[in-house]
Amino acid sequence: MNRELFSKRAALKNGSGMRYQLSVQSDMKGISAFVVKFQDSLYAYENRCPHLGIELDWTPGEFFDNEQMFLVCATHGAHFKPDTGKCVSGPCVGQSLKRLDLLDLVDF
Ligand code: FES
Repeated sequence: MNRELFSKRAALKNGSGMRYQLSVQSDMKGISAFVVKFQDSLYAYENRCPHLGIELDWTPGEFFDNEQMFLVCATHGAHFKPDTGKCVSGPCVGQSLKRLDLLDLVDF
């Protein structure tokens, strides 16, 4: 991880997030991903709701609900636990966001 990227992640506040591009070498396309900070820990997920497969955020980097306790799919309101990615309410209850390795993410 480069120094600038490390600094940006370190500067994340609890209840905030950043979008990323995950490079996939086989087809040179990227996967939309994000990192969030929750209770002083960082978590990375593919930016794809398990319900319809669309990105969670309408406003880039805004993934949390108003109370900053859950990640939210902006389209239909599914709520996910930030530390596990498990959906706890909405149309995909019981499904989970795909967890990613923080070291695989490259800045947009
Ligand atoms: S697309 Fe995510 S809850 Fe509907």
